[in-house]
Amino acid sequence: MKRLSTGIPSLDEMTHGGLYEGSATLITGAPGTGKTTFGMQFIVAGVEKKEPGIVVTFEHFPEIIYRDALSFGWDFKKYEEEGLLKVIFTSPEVFKTELEKEMGLIDELTAEMGAKRILIDPVTYFQFMTEDRAELRKAYNSLINGVKRAELTSILTCEVPKLFGEEKTSSLFYIVDNIIGLRYVEIESQLRRALLVLKMRGSDHAKDIREFEITDKGVSIEAKFEGREGILTGTPKSITLAGALEEAFGGKRKEER
Ligand SMILES: Nc1ncnc2c1ncn2[C@@H]1O[C@H](COP(=O)(O)OP(=O)(O)O)[C@@H](O)[C@H]1O
Ligand SMILES: [Mg+2]
Repeated sequence: MKRLSTGIPSLDEMTHGGLYEGSATLITGAPGTGKTTFGMQFIVAGVEKKEPGIVVTFEHFPEIIYRDALSFGWDFKKYEEEGLLKVIFTSPEVFKTELEKEMGLIDELTAEMGAKRILIDPVTYFQFMTEDRAELRKAYNSLINGVKRAELTSILTCEVPKLFGEEKTSSLFYIVDNIIGLRYVEIESQLRRALLVLKMRGSDHAKDIREFEITDKGVSIEAKFEGREGILTGTPKSITLAGALEEAFGGKRKEER
């Protein structure tokens, strides 16, 4: 099965070759951890290979997206003129209706421009549509089904204060194929960024926590937090996946809840 490059060489390596074509990937993390930047970089990686992409944003006006992208050297206006990108600013309600239509906006765009990739940022805006959990789960299902039907490889950003803390977003964790977690880590009174591939359906992947930076060229992943387990977990013991998930990404320990 074909895999698509994420645009971040180390992440391609961590995912053993990139994201499966047609798969849905959730990027989860607190505000400012870099979710939108990861998503944009994935879209740009497509543009560079002449694989058109769609950016759906519920949060920022297109002007903000163009400005932020340009700060990384990505000229979204130019990509749009070249027919390699479409930025859509809409509401979750409208987007959902379009996805559920026989030939809605996404199907039309995909047919028209030959889009292969889509970023939906942040998908968690769906939770403002309804208070009802079952209805929200249905909405997420129809979203994923809609992008899959259009044969798009998707990145959905998930804004959470804690990785697994929110029941509202938990249904998303089951529906998507892949999950990448981003978070802040405090080391020697410095705020650093950490990343972990939490799930990859049908593929092996790196299980270690890596440090990454956001520079004026986008995301750049560095080495593991090697020898820093004690700092990361607060106790000088070797790191296990379960322990790392709980400590680094799950927030407080069970007994502290
Ligand atoms: N051009 C840039 N150069 C370096 N860092 C940047 C640049 N643009 C944004 N950042 C960093 O990225 C952070 C925001 O990332 P973003 O992807 O918007 O996060 P999220 O979508 O998770 O809220 C900013 O707080 C800033 O630290
Ligand atoms: Mg964002």
